[in-house]
Amino acid sequence: MENTSQVIIEVKAKVEAHNAAVKKRRRRQHRIALLSVAFILAFAFALPMASYTAHWFGSTAVAQDGGAAASTNPRSNYWRAVKEGVSGYSAVDGPESNVLIQMNGTYWEQTRSSFWVQKLPWIIAGMAVLLLLYHLIHGRNKLDKPTAGRKLKRWGWFDRLVHWVTAISFIALAITGISMLIGKAALIPLLGKAGFASAAQISLQVHNVLGPVFFVGISLMILMWVWYNFPTKVDLQWLKEGGGLFKKAHPSAGRMNAGEKIWFWLLATLGVVVCLTGVAMVLPVYGIALPAWAETVPWLSGSRAEMQQANLLHGVLAVIWTAVALGHIYIGTAGTEGAFEGMATGYVSEEWAMQHHDLWAKKLIDKGKLIEPGESGGRQQPDATIAPSS
Ligand code: HEM
Repeated sequence: MENTSQVIIEVKAKVEAHNAAVKKRRRRQHRIALLSVAFILAFAFALPMASYTAHWFGSTAVAQDGGAAASTNPRSNYWRAVKEGVSGYSAVDGPESNVLIQMNGTYWEQTRSSFWVQKLPWIIAGMAVLLLLYHLIHGRNKLDKPTAGRKLKRWGWFDRLVHWVTAISFIALAITGISMLIGKAALIPLLGKAGFASAAQISLQVHNVLGPVFFVGISLMILMWVWYNFPTKVDLQWLKEGGGLFKKAHPSAGRMNAGEKIWFWLLATLGVVVCLTGVAMVLPVYGIALPAWAETVPWLSGSRAEMQQANLLHGVLAVIWTAVALGHIYIGTAGTEGAFEGMATGYVSEEWAMQHHDLWAKKLIDKGKLIEPGESGGRQQPDATIAPSS
């Protein structure tokens, strides 16, 4: 009898300890989620505020006044011909050096300021609203079973380093890029013309420095993770079931599910075009001349017309990409319990792995890679030796 009550007390104590641990973990996850949101917001506000402060302290930036006094040109026919592309003679040697007025620039400016380009960033706001609605209606994708403390290694330290450097630079590039694209309309009313000139200058500099960092990050991501992202039959079934997004089901998946693979290939195609068009614009800033053969690569010729095309393509694709990235960020934070933990620590719980990537988890468990509570998994490699998702 005494023995039975002793056992009951011990079981109760274990259950209480477990519940306390779960509560502690949930509080930690909430703290991390709140901190991430605060970090992103601080980041978003830091740029305009920094530029505003710079302006107050006498930044040298000068607002460009579009309404400069117009003067009548007595040689209008001459200039009309120049505008139409009649080339002159110049002692300066270089591409397009004898083109006095490049009219394409006017068309570029008109397209860039056109209604559709200026309103495009609203798709990011639209995506944010959709995600918020989904979250309010559907709620968080929680774990079906409580965690027992056993873990699997999912990401190595270098994977996580590359992911977070790329992610943080992406957010900074998105904020600075959008403030340059629609800043005239959105920021001049807030900061004034001179304040916006400083904001645009700082944004451009941050954009030019982080752009190459991001390109390196994304190239590494593609090289390191392409093996996990080749489509398989399982992905079709996953897609048919809508990834379980609207039901409580969890379709089978290998190391990466079909949704993640789509995100990956978007990044490896559209993302690369965004980066290449960025390179086309940033090379002259760093004074880098490409070898002659590179001039045949689209957007790399260095001509102003190509740079203008590159600029438009870069802006439009980047805005679309940012909207899609919001979906990825939501799923990786508030949307799915335990996903952020994986990219933050490198480890995921056995329950998370079985719920979201059952085929991958079973393979690892069969290979004896399950890490028991208290056991260090530090020396275990993620699963580079495991065949890509199936
Ligand atoms: C704050 C923003 C972000 C958060 C919270 C986040 C979160 C995550 C998480 C949790 C995973 C792991 C998913 C898993 O283990 O199955 C992941 C994977 C990944 N993330 Fe992010 N991410 C963010 C931003 C970005 C950005 C901006 C990019 C690229 C531009 C990116 C690219 C990737 C890629 C390529 C993967 C692997 C997907 C695959 O290989 O199929 N992430 N992210």
